[in-house]
Amino acid sequence: MRTIKVELAERSYEIRVGAGLLSRVGPWINGLGFSGKAVVITDTTVKKLYAASLLAGLERAGFTPTVLEVPPGEAYKSLETAGRLYGEMTAARAERLTPVIALGGGVIGDLTGFVAATYLRGVPLVQVPTTLLAQVDSSIGGKTAIDHGRLKNIVGAFYQPVQVVADIDTLKTLSEAEVANGLAEVIKSAAVGDRDLFDYLYLNIEQAKELRPAALENVVVASAGIKADIVAADERDEGPREVLNYGHTVGHAVEAASGFSLKHGQAVSIGMVAAARISQRMGLLKESEVARLVAVLRKAGLPVAVPSLASADIFEAMSRDKKVRRDRVRFVLLRSIGDAFISDDVDMALVEEVVSEQG
Ligand SMILES: NC(=O)c1ccc[n+]([C@@H]2O[C@H](COP(=O)([O-])OP(=O)(O)OC[C@H]3O[C@@H](n4cnc5c(N)ncnc54)[C@H](O)[C@@H]3O)[C@@H](O)[C@H]2O)c1
Ligand SMILES: [Zn+2]
Repeated sequence: MRTIKVELAERSYEIRVGAGLLSRVGPWINGLGFSGKAVVITDTTVKKLYAASLLAGLERAGFTPTVLEVPPGEAYKSLETAGRLYGEMTAARAERLTPVIALGGGVIGDLTGFVAATYLRGVPLVQVPTTLLAQVDSSIGGKTAIDHGRLKNIVGAFYQPVQVVADIDTLKTLSEAEVANGLAEVIKSAAVGDRDLFDYLYLNIEQAKELRPAALENVVVASAGIKADIVAADERDEGPREVLNYGHTVGHAVEAASGFSLKHGQAVSIGMVAAARISQRMGLLKESEVARLVAVLRKAGLPVAVPSLASADIFEAMSRDKKVRRDRVRFVLLRSIGDAFISDDVDMALVEEVVSEQG
């Protein structure tokens, strides 16, 4: 097992990464000073697969756990679900110091985080992420949210967990598409902040894709470490943390224009290639670096070209984005792999040119 620290003064916490960790969560939370009741929030799919080991560990550590179940899917990351969970937590007599454990992917993590941040004005939150995306990205950093109306993540809070436990054994049951979805964010982290990780991925990404434990552990530890450092530098996303949006300007637009038939990671992959090409056209990034990025994304099984979507729909989605001002749009650009910066000065015409060519 390896441990990464998120340094946030009195809100600091550890991320533990390794195999076979589910049953150790109980003793660790106990070690943080919590005891008595515990609430586990999970989805139906993950419950069947992983609740038993987590619960056994909680019980062994003296907790009396209550499991609350949500159907899987983004549609349940809602105020309605949160409302139901508040009711079930009151019925279970959850108190100020009752730990609430999110067992699942990013949907469960964001939803549980939101509920933990607001129930009794905040109860201890433990993240136990079970998708690759959640282990490398969403469980770290304290962004919690629910969707509302047609808007994603529009209601939420910054609320840090007291611990994150990423058991890589849980990734074995993910579909190939879910693994690729997570790898997109791994490649993003490497591209913006860690050339060594990028070189490692260039040589070993197939092993991660095939879920070989050693490669998975390396990838999760390295990406979680990048995210931990960026969060420590900018907890509330007011500056440096914004580089984590690399690939997301075009990515979000492509995702929306596809009517969400593309997965987030696939859309971000397309967006990363677009942002790299834009960087290259602006004379910032070498062509060979763009080629290496494209190669890694391809090896991960991710798309690198804009699918046959009307480019008008993509631009329409982009112009609704708050990052666009007049004909200028905010982008995360690359000077080289591992060196990203924010630019408010990308010409929309160049974006259109690159996106149309990429189709
Ligand atoms: N808070 C943040 O900083 C942040 C960052 C990125 C994304 N997000 C959010 O994360 C969400 C996406 O997360 P996700 O990609 O993990 O999706 P998800 O939580 O919907 O999980 C994907 C699917 O995999 C299933 N699943 C989960 N773990 C499994 C396992 N080990 N084996 C088999 N199946 C499993 C789930 O039941 C679900 O059907 C979005 O709502 C997004 O907004 C948040
Ligand atoms: Zn993303």
